[in-house]
Parts: sequence; structure tokens; C-alpha cells
Amino acid sequence: MHLLPLLLCALLIPPVAQAETPAPDAERRAELETLLYQDCGSCHGMTLRGGLGPALPRDRMNEYDVEALSHLILSGIPGTAMPGWGALIDESDARWIAEHLQTDNPLETVD
Ligand code: HEC
Repeated sequence: MHLLPLLLCALLIPPVAQAETPAPDAERRAELETLLYQDCGSCHGMTLRGGLGPALPRDRMNEYDVEALSHLILSGIPGTAMPGWGALIDESDARWIAEHLQTDNPLETVD
């Protein structure tokens, strides 16, 4: 019984497209956190208190629903300096960042 051809087939068949991409694993989450505080931080401030872009405090982020916030991150805000990130991150990544901004964000509010 030769398992190798079977194995090769399994490798060649693309995985069934998933409607919901799985949530990012721990390694990816760490990368996304770096992206948020470094790359987003280059405009929004490393502590998200604002710079070229506005501050991103939790209270403000919760004015968006998580879908709208993920979409904003993926597509950017046309006509402004806010770029879309769809080339670098996928939907589940964007959703993770959106949830992080709403719940885990060290900046609760701006006075
Ligand atoms: C090149 C600068 C720049 C970078 C990098 C950047 N942004 Fe922005 N962002 C902006 C600007 C400018 C605005 C305000 C646009 C406007 O005038 O509405 C904005 C707006 C936003 C808003 C809406 C804020 C609000 O109060 O409604 C969110 C959320 C946001 N950015 C998230 C992110 C995230 C997450 C990243 C990284 C993945 C990121 N941004 C990277 C410049 C940037």
C-alpha cells in the first residue's frame, strides 16, 4: 500500500474555501499587535493618542460596530491619509485588530 501518492494528492488539493477564515493564531496575533502599535502607530501614535491621524481610544472605537471597523481598516478612508490594509492583512486579521481596538486597547479615552 503506497501512501505517498495519496499524501501528494492531499497536498495538491486546495483546502475547501472557508466562509469564515479562522481567527489568527498566537503568532499572527503578535504580528498584528506589532503592526498596530508600529505601523498604525506611525500615524495614530505608538500609544494611539494621535499624531497625523486621530487618537484611537476604546470609547471612540466602540462607536463603530466591529464589522464597520474591520472594513474601515481593510479599505482605509478614501480621500484621506488613512490607507487601506487589505494587501497586508486578511479579514480575520482586520477583525482581530478591530476587536483589540475596542476591548484590549490601553487607551480608554482622550480627555
Ligand atoms: C499614513 C497615516 C496612517 C496610517 C499608517 C494609519 N492611519 Fe488610520 N487614519 C489616518 C488618518 C489621517 C485618519 C483620519 C481620516 C479622516 O480624516 O477621516 C485615520 C482614521 C482612522 C480610523 C477612524 C478614526 C475615527 O475616529 O473614526 C481608524 C479606526 C484608523 N484610522 C485605524 C487605523 C489602523 C488600525 C491602522 C493600521 C492598520 C491605521 N489606521 C493606519 C492615518 C493613518
